[in-house]
Amino acid sequence: MNNDTVTIIDNNTGKQLVCPIKRGTHGHPVIDCQDLPKTLGMFTFDPAFMTTASCESAITYIDGDEGILLYRGYPIEELAVKSSYLEVCYLLLYGELPTCQQMDDFTLAVKKYTLVHEGLLHFYRGFRHDAHPMAMLVGVIGAMSGYYPDALDIKNPEHRNRSALRLMAKMSTVAANCHRYLIGRPFAHPRNDLGYVENFMNMMFSIPSEPYQLNETANRALELILILHADHEQNASTSTVRLAGSSQAHPFSCIAAGIATLWGPAHGGANEAVIRMLQDIEDPKNVYNYIKRFKDKDSSVRLMGFGHRVYKNYDPRAKIIRESCHQLLHELNAEHLPLFEIALELERIALEDEYFIERKLYPNVDFYSGIILSALGIPLNMFTAIFALSRTVGWVSQWSEMMEEPNLRIARPRQLYIGAAQRKFVPMEKR
Ligand code: CMC
Repeated sequence: MNNDTVTIIDNNTGKQLVCPIKRGTHGHPVIDCQDLPKTLGMFTFDPAFMTTASCESAITYIDGDEGILLYRGYPIEELAVKSSYLEVCYLLLYGELPTCQQMDDFTLAVKKYTLVHEGLLHFYRGFRHDAHPMAMLVGVIGAMSGYYPDALDIKNPEHRNRSALRLMAKMSTVAANCHRYLIGRPFAHPRNDLGYVENFMNMMFSIPSEPYQLNETANRALELILILHADHEQNASTSTVRLAGSSQAHPFSCIAAGIATLWGPAHGGANEAVIRMLQDIEDPKNVYNYIKRFKDKDSSVRLMGFGHRVYKNYDPRAKIIRESCHQLLHELNAEHLPLFEIALELERIALEDEYFIERKLYPNVDFYSGIILSALGIPLNMFTAIFALSRTVGWVSQWSEMMEEPNLRIARPRQLYIGAAQRKFVPMEKR
């Protein structure tokens, strides 16, 4: 008997299926049950994909119990202190850390694509003055699917690479200009003499009438946020990008689908929701009573910035960013501003509360990234757009990996139908 199998037996019919167990480099083995419908005439039932491995991937590894996150095998803790965001992008996209020459070439290649077509500005102008930047990002990035006829062949690796570089480069210009449009500033052009983060900050905050003073502390903090959010294996938005990509849709529209998914408060929208919640608390002395509502069995409201589907001990990104967050608040002398006092009090109380301890609910990366972005003066409605900026490389890396699969098939989950049984149509006059 092969030990690397699991046998599924249908107790009604006695039929059996021997399923191979597949083992990856790290992590839980998976049961390959692809023959289930053919052999037993059944599907698996796994709402919210709690136990389903949807693909093979060599990009990112998470061990939720141990709090481990690896990009291409490298621990996030090391990348956070030793790498730049663009170096991490290279690693995620191509699988290896770059040499000096490769890094220079890559940086130049990204810069080459930072400008956006002037025609896109019309799309911005169609939005209301109070539109959410994520709505604009979904629309403008989706619209870009119609702009680059030189990279339409998704089977061609060169075309795919061009699309990947374009998306990473242009996302920064598109995101910054969402903010500028909403506050009535003229559209900004990228400055290719600046680094990736500096260029983004310059496009966000510069005005034509005076030079913008770049701030080293702010740039460093933002760079860390970008590194920590760059990829996170098969999360909701990445799975959406893969699902859309499996139909062989245009990469820009696949990324637009990913942006739409990221927007939700259970996912990337949490960084914005955290700050709205802190504002709602108003005073550190209200924290104790405020969090009672999250523990109520009959309520579905959740403490924003706490908990994670995969990390059940701690989020390693949160551990890194927590330190940087406390240091930044200290450096900016912002620890005693009311919003941050509330955040620190909430962190303290929730970490000592039985409800959160029992359920292994710890602050996640977005609890701290929300606080950092707020301390840096980034407008609240731009927080999730910055998450999208950072995650673009993860999305395109995962999309590219999927497009290389020799037997790529359209993704198509099944269902357990619980609706009406087949019945006869009754003409309207007889109902
Ligand atoms: N506040 C209060 N209770 C919670 C929370 C929370 N934030 N998160 C989970 N729980 C409770 C949940 O009600 C359940 O309780 P019980 O066992 O009594 O029914 C228990 O903890 C287990 O939770 P779960 O439903 O299995 O958790 P999940 O894996 O379905 O949800 C989550 C994960 C991230 C959606 C959820 O924790 C949440 O909504 N957190 C707040 C939103 C947030 O911060 N999201 C950002 C995630 S990190 C960035 C990213 O990856 O996008």
